[in-house]
Amino acid sequence: MLMIVCVCKAVSDRAIRHAVKQGATSVRDLARELGLGSCCGKCVPEAKIALSACRATFAPASVPASGMMVPALG
Ligand code: FES
Repeated sequence: MLMIVCVCKAVSDRAIRHAVKQGATSVRDLARELGLGSCCGKCVPEAKIALSACRATFAPASVPASGMMVPALG
C-alpha cells in the first residue's frame, strides 16, 4: 500500500525507499532529491521515521581498505 508522507510535494514512502537505496541518508537529502519538507514542513517528523526505517532495512555494506565487501552489522 502506498502511503503519502509529504502531501505538499506528493512524496510517497516508496519514493523515500527508492531515494535511500540511491544513497539518501538525511531529510536534507530527501528535500534535495524529492522536494519533501520544502513547503509547510509538517511531513518532516514522519519523514525522519520513514528514513530511519529505510536506512535500517537498506544499510549499505561497508568497504574496508582491502576492497572486500563486508555486510553492515546491526
Ligand atoms: S507536507 Fe511536506 S512540505 Fe508540506
